[in-house]
Amino acid sequence: MRTPPLASGAEGPDALRPLLDTVLGALADGGHARGGPLPAGGPETVAQRIRAAAGDFLPDKGDDNALYDLVRALAEGAADPAHPHCAAHLHCPPLAVATAADLAASALNPSLDSWDQAPAASELEALVTRTLAAEIYGGARASEQTPAVAPRRRTEPPKQGDALVTTGGTEANQLALLLARETHPGVRLVHGANAHHSLPRAAWLLGLPEPVVVPAPAGTLDPAALDEALTELPGPRGSLLVAATAGTTDAGLIDPLPQIAALCAAHGTRLHVDAAYGGGLLFSARHRTQLAGLEHADTVTLDLHKLGWQPVAAGLLTVKNPSDLAALAHQADYLNADDDTEAGLPDLLGRSLRTTRRADILKIAVTLKTLGRHGLGALVDQVCAHAHEFARLVRTHPGFELHDPPTISTVLFRPAGASDDAVAAVRRKLLHDGRAVLGRAHLDGRLWLKVTLLNPHTRPDDLAALLKLVEGNLPS
Ligand SMILES: Cc1ncc(COP(=O)(O)O)c(C=O)c1O
Repeated sequence: MRTPPLASGAEGPDALRPLLDTVLGALADGGHARGGPLPAGGPETVAQRIRAAAGDFLPDKGDDNALYDLVRALAEGAADPAHPHCAAHLHCPPLAVATAADLAASALNPSLDSWDQAPAASELEALVTRTLAAEIYGGARASEQTPAVAPRRRTEPPKQGDALVTTGGTEANQLALLLARETHPGVRLVHGANAHHSLPRAAWLLGLPEPVVVPAPAGTLDPAALDEALTELPGPRGSLLVAATAGTTDAGLIDPLPQIAALCAAHGTRLHVDAAYGGGLLFSARHRTQLAGLEHADTVTLDLHKLGWQPVAAGLLTVKNPSDLAALAHQADYLNADDDTEAGLPDLLGRSLRTTRRADILKIAVTLKTLGRHGLGALVDQVCAHAHEFARLVRTHPGFELHDPPTISTVLFRPAGASDDAVAAVRRKLLHDGRAVLGRAHLDGRLWLKVTLLNPHTRPDDLAALLKLVEGNLPS
């Protein structure tokens, strides 16, 4: 058997070209065969189809059709976030340009654990992460700082704002808690009842004390209850970490950040803001004012595979005080030997807890530069406008109840007078039939249907059709 061609090197592009044709053909054929947002028939039907397409996964003799067959099967069995009726989760349709850039990251395969595996990618990452940190904390744009990669012991880290690339919001939240723990050993997390589950889970992972949960009766963290908790909790100043949310998972609500930041300042408490969802509003001149106060946070979770149209993974943790990152400094002689660092080779190991690390920054860099602030802001504005339009359709329909006007691009609604069981059943029926992917959320003691609109190409007709689908599939 011929040795299979490689993706990089002088012959890589020529080897990839025909394979890409195969992949693109299989994506088109599989998507066409599916015909909707989700494969019809439920888990067993999808599983059977995948088993049939795959056959023996490790045959003695290889199969030249595997690329086409498996990509087609995956596409046919996919939940397609580009379909306007696939709107359950913070699961965005990736931009074509970002996906194309991601192919280059796969082909070149830089690994960001040492400079000699990622000479250009490491510089790109340093520049882009600082640009994103400057979006929150202000300060010099990355291009004005030299050198961007700050080799250990040779150059001071940036004075204000830095960011680490993560696999998503969960890893960013974990790192935020880790940095807080390294600043104040034994730090205790205080979070709203509306916080993402990854925060208390990170506290568990890091062996921190049981978190304090502050009520969020209206879906956002209640500042009066937070003040009370910060006043009454025992321990020295600085022994608590408050985590607020900008863009809750269930309803897309934003905690009152200026008030929370003021309380944290008054109580000497560190502040983390999980802006995995809402962080995308930074790109929109119209909506970024909703994030006022974010600049006071010691750490902020961003997640551009939500409101940033990136293929997974594209998370970030920004840090206000770059010296906090010293806690992650780590040495492994084969990657960042002291004498190499002294001689000027950038030390990358302290930029993550991972070792081998893909160049997820490339697709982000390409997207930011291709669309610019206005282009990205326009996408944000579009999906927020879709949410308002959908909310209007719900509000003016006598058969539906709207939870609240949307804050970002999430709308909660339910059939008027329906039981929770009926709400759950209509969602499952639409999933089973492959007609629509809706989310669900318990709020105010009732179960609601959730649409999270992240597709900028969605049209008003699609939204009206989605509501009709729910209406037409209610249990009798
Ligand atoms: C508010 C919030 N934070 C964090 C996360 C976790 O992000 P990821 O799934 O990228 O780890 C989510 C996921 O939906 C989220 O909604």
